[in-house]
Amino acid sequence: MALRITNARWYPKYHISTPGGWCNDPNGFCFYKGQAHLFYQYHPHSAQWGPMHWGHVVSDDLIRWKHLPIALAPTNDYDRDGCFSGSGIEKDGRLYLFYTGNIPNEQNQSMAFSDDGIHFEKFEHNPVIVAPDDKDVDIFRPDFRDPKVWLHGDTYYMVIGARTKDRMRGQILIYESKNLCDWEFKSIAARAEGNQGENWECPNFASVEGKDVLILSPQGIKRVGNMYRNLFQSGYFVGRLDYETGIFTHGDFELLDYGFDFYAPQVTKIPDGRTIMIGWLQSWFSVEVEQEDGWAGLMTVPREVHVKNGKVVTPPVKELAGLRLSEKSYDNLVFYEDTKFDGVEGETGELVMEIDLTETKAFEIDLRVGEEEKSVITCDNAIHLFKFNRDKAGAGGDGEREVKLPPSDKMKLQIFLDRSSIEIFINDGEYVLSNRVYPRADSTGIVFMPKDGAFKIDSLKFYTLGEGIPQPVVD
Ligand code: FRU
Repeated sequence: MALRITNARWYPKYHISTPGGWCNDPNGFCFYKGQAHLFYQYHPHSAQWGPMHWGHVVSDDLIRWKHLPIALAPTNDYDRDGCFSGSGIEKDGRLYLFYTGNIPNEQNQSMAFSDDGIHFEKFEHNPVIVAPDDKDVDIFRPDFRDPKVWLHGDTYYMVIGARTKDRMRGQILIYESKNLCDWEFKSIAARAEGNQGENWECPNFASVEGKDVLILSPQGIKRVGNMYRNLFQSGYFVGRLDYETGIFTHGDFELLDYGFDFYAPQVTKIPDGRTIMIGWLQSWFSVEVEQEDGWAGLMTVPREVHVKNGKVVTPPVKELAGLRLSEKSYDNLVFYEDTKFDGVEGETGELVMEIDLTETKAFEIDLRVGEEEKSVITCDNAIHLFKFNRDKAGAGGDGEREVKLPPSDKMKLQIFLDRSSIEIFINDGEYVLSNRVYPRADSTGIVFMPKDGAFKIDSLKFYTLGEGIPQPVVD
């Protein structure tokens, strides 16, 4: 039995979360028999991290999700301390899950499969991969996890996150297989250079618009100025995987998200060819106030992955428009004083704006405003600096995150508000800031503030949004 949720004040209306208990990383994201399946690191018995299970949700449309029974539980010798993160892939009508079996001082890759997408059987010859001998490969064997599998030509490939034996550099190992059961070590595809982290978790790989993208969640990147202020980061390299040698040549490490709370994203290709990404809208050791209510953690809204001018951009999926219930729309606004707009407010909702930056020098937008609360966006166009501040957001963590933007005449902002999260998409996902906030339910105001002359908004829309995840029954 899952832990009971005792209070829904911060429970998401449309983001994926648990039916009670803790979650972290998304896992096994894939399409199977016409439905999107998402699994997640799950501890059903408490709102703290514990022996990991795989929770499971399914959707016909990427926006309305249903809970399914727990898919994996740590019941075997080789995974007795947890079924850690991994991926899912369909082959010949069967859904295969690859995950890390966690046991003391050792991690292995194991497999489970299902013919109905609900009930999973663990492979009788698990584990399918154990860590290589550190005499053969420069590896710290206890950190060897988070397999992501994909098909290229007639061969399956798997990336696994790891670190060097001296524990100083994150790295990615590649394995290959013809049948998903027998795997062979191929290469060390990439390794941290300089300030790129001492351990690489949750690798993901996708070919997007002619480029190969390696996504990782490195631990141990050091803060540089106002960059890398979170404890752990998630980012990517754009490059080219040489399938002959297994070597990935690439450009610089770039962040996927500039907010407080984004980690361990997973990508999958969906039938129409798009690559979709979902991340954990949380981070390790951040304040999760909802733990006192019997749950913890949630997933980001699904985002598309594109490569534009060599950079990954991640706009929210267009399907999210299907959650819209009512619309308030204003056009050609020019104002000089702090302003609220009728119908533009909410505990949850979506705000979409096209801002004219030739006329607007600096602005502030306060979200989730109550008597003593506000979550604050500021943008100073003279120095192209965009900030999100949660010092007064309510309960939970405080502080500020920022992103430097290239000069531009226009800015599109798309903001998803849920009961305890704010996701900000700048210019269709060129920059994204994902954040947890814990305001009171009645802190619903939105105030638009010019900071240096005019605030010129070409178009402003606010949508109320419907439910995307079953709401907990609280008595
Ligand atoms: C990333 C991570 C993974 C691991 C999982 C355990 O957040 O540390 O590397 O598989 O969480 O829950």
